[in-house]
Amino acid sequence: MSSNASHHALLPQELIRLKRDGQPLPAEEIKAFVQGIADDRISDAQIGAFTMSVFLNGMSREEVVALTTATRDSGHVMQWDSLNLPGPIVDKHSTGGVGDLVSLVLGPWVAACGAFVPMISGRGLGHTGGTLDKLESIPGYDPYPAPERFSDVVKSTGVAIIGQTGNLAPADKRIYGVRDVTATVESIPLITASILGKKLASGLDALVMDVKVGSGAFMPTPEKSRELAKSIANVATQAGTPTTALLTDMSQPLAPCAGNAVEIVETLALLRGERANSRVMQVTRELAVEMLIAGKLVANREEALTKLDKALTSGAAAEVFARMVRELGGPADFMERSDSYLATAPVIQAVYPEQSGIVQRFDTRAVGMSVVELGGGRLRNDASVDHSVGFSDIVEIGDRVDSQRPLAIVHARTEEAAARAAAQLRAAVTVGDAEATADTLLQETFRGEA
Ligand code: URA
Repeated sequence: MSSNASHHALLPQELIRLKRDGQPLPAEEIKAFVQGIADDRISDAQIGAFTMSVFLNGMSREEVVALTTATRDSGHVMQWDSLNLPGPIVDKHSTGGVGDLVSLVLGPWVAACGAFVPMISGRGLGHTGGTLDKLESIPGYDPYPAPERFSDVVKSTGVAIIGQTGNLAPADKRIYGVRDVTATVESIPLITASILGKKLASGLDALVMDVKVGSGAFMPTPEKSRELAKSIANVATQAGTPTTALLTDMSQPLAPCAGNAVEIVETLALLRGERANSRVMQVTRELAVEMLIAGKLVANREEALTKLDKALTSGAAAEVFARMVRELGGPADFMERSDSYLATAPVIQAVYPEQSGIVQRFDTRAVGMSVVELGGGRLRNDASVDHSVGFSDIVEIGDRVDSQRPLAIVHARTEEAAARAAAQLRAAVTVGDAEATADTLLQETFRGEA
């Protein structure tokens, strides 16, 4: 705690009053307030009044930068300098999606190109899947290594994907908990500071952000997604971490599967170079290009693409994944014998459409919720996850379906669960007669302005 902040800080109610009345908040006052949240000197009521006043009155760019850096600095901020790593520390974050296994491929892929990726991932949230839940399909994989082990694995392997532990951005834990019960989640300044406060605490040289648009996106409209992408790119860059945000399509599941083990199966295929031009690989490649450029490992897009292609076709990216799994407690022969390690569901059935025709659109959120209901996600945050369930072989917009060509394969615990999920999937996929094409995958790129 800086003595300056503690001696001259406004009372919490005075800071709240300023924001309530639309007055600007000085950066050092925001810092003192956030430190007070981390220290438990500020009450939940005061946090709630503050978040509602921000929700209603917004924040200037300077205020969001101050809230972000104060959140980042409210706990432990990782330092990598002493390890003398021979490459940049880079990471990616996403607003979350369905069939979004990007992190699992991206981390090892850019590590194979010389980047170092200390990736702190989350569990499934709402209708979106969680990278951590997917990794826990791998027997023995320990997503909570001790801090020294985490840096050792990042150093030796280039990437470690783990869960959030103890003292990272503790102020956000309290603020987010209060927002959740005070109708103040949907505020771009608060979302920006929450995401970046946590992400920037891992001591990054550069960050790429994947902001989703469409029926499976966290943000309710394309305009809000754009606004968030721009806010995150600019705020992170001004907070000292050069950041690019990509706006990408989530109007259908990104990979042709959604669940936990089924997404690991797909990840392995992608890392082996199969389906290099699939939608999920196109998004992953664009994010990887930005990471290599931002991390100064390449001079331009062409160099990045060449390097990435080589890392994939040589098997280097797959080898990095295998090594990460092994280093974090998973089987040493996971890549070779994944079938014998991954759980399979007792009931596996094709889901045929009610009518034949062409896939027009998806209610992607509903597909995600169906996976949650199958047991692949959580309805309560202390519940456990069934890694075996979900959908595979999901069709894409524009595909023809009929009594021979199913919408997907459902993987379920029971016949009843399979039937329920099949009905939900049929309701979530619109089939019609017209030709249909998917929305543009990469919609926009926002490079942060310092
Ligand atoms: N994810 C976060 O971590 N924070 C938000 O505010 C929204 C999504």
